[in-house]
Amino acid sequence: MKKKAQRAADMVSCAPKTCLYFSFGINIFLAIFVSVLAIYFNTLDKETVENKDVPKPSTNIAQKLLQANVSLVGDLQSSVCFNCDYLGEDVNTNETLYDDIYTTDRQNKLCCLKDTAIQEFIRAIQNEDNHIGNANSVSDSFHWWRERPCAAHLYLDRKKSISKENKLRWVASDSLGTAFTKDIDLQNATHLQINQSGNYFIYSSTTFDHSKDIYVETFYQSLTKFHPLLPRTGDVDLVFSKFGGSKTSDKHHTNFLAGVFELQRGYLISSSLSQSAHNFLDQSNQVNNYIGLFKL
Ligand SMILES: *[C@@H]1O[C@H](CO)[C@@H](O)[C@H](O)[C@H]1NC(C)=O
Ligand SMILES: *[C@@H]1O[C@H](CO)[C@@H](O)[C@H](O)[C@H]1NC(C)=O
Ligand SMILES: *[C@@H]1O[C@H](CO)[C@@H](O)[C@H](O)[C@H]1NC(C)=O
Ligand SMILES: *[C@@H]1O[C@H](CO)[C@@H](O)[C@H](O)[C@H]1NC(C)=O
Repeated sequence: MKKKAQRAADMVSCAPKTCLYFSFGINIFLAIFVSVLAIYFNTLDKETVENKDVPKPSTNIAQKLLQANVSLVGDLQSSVCFNCDYLGEDVNTNETLYDDIYTTDRQNKLCCLKDTAIQEFIRAIQNEDNHIGNANSVSDSFHWWRERPCAAHLYLDRKKSISKENKLRWVASDSLGTAFTKDIDLQNATHLQINQSGNYFIYSSTTFDHSKDIYVETFYQSLTKFHPLLPRTGDVDLVFSKFGGSKTSDKHHTNFLAGVFELQRGYLISSSLSQSAHNFLDQSNQVNNYIGLFKL
């Protein structure tokens, strides 16, 4: 009996509170990627319309997200904020893991974290092409991120994004030190090999740009598993999504796939795209396309 309980305890390798914070941290990290995309597109659109030569404005996330009252934004200089209207009217800070919750003049709710590391990270991403910002200090602050056992976070290989088998190709490097593999082997740039059996959270985000097309054709994307000892079984879909095929389909689309899966040692994880979908990959920023996993 005791042994069983011990084993159960071993499976959950963090205390509930630590787990909660950890999962929260990961989600914030993922949410940031998505928000950054939104900000990126918004600023791009405005800039092209208003003035072609405008350099990237100095970043203030809160302002970009909601065009909040300027005096309010002044108080938020050291915070990273997200629109959190979905939490409802009466949400109180002590019910969340955020540091502050503000209501803007437009009656939008902003949930904020006082976190300079994440803020520097966002700045560095936005300035990717200019090589300004403090990439080293950002890299240092994500030390904990790279040291997680049985985990990986990779970005699309922008030089050669797709393999002959229509698998996305990945690289384990970036200027900010957020890409890494730990106890996970990246094979042929397409497959992540599980080295320890267990439950894994797997996520991927892929961005497509159809702005040059009148019609967004239907395409498919999946995360698949394959075990070299089960060659006849072949690729098995873990998660699958379909997009496009309608006149009203978005011209900019981010496909986020994620889930928790029990995997035995040796499984190979990869991401497949339907034919020709890779022609529409939006590779304007490294953070647009990534894959990652970690053992729970
Ligand atoms: C911002 O808020 C202050 C005080 O709440 C108000 O006086 C001011 O008019 C607001 N500014 C804008 C641009 O809405
Ligand atoms: C949160 O704060 C509000 C107001 O400050 C208080 O009424 C409420 O009891 C608190 N809730 C918890 C769970 O601490
Ligand atoms: C897989 O795990 C073994 C020990 O269990 C270790 O020796 C080996 O280096 C690991 N492989 C990778 C790619 O991390
Ligand atoms: C990697 O490429 C080699 C040579 O083409 C092939 O034999 C092997 O099966 C590939 N591995 C994976 C995981 O696709």
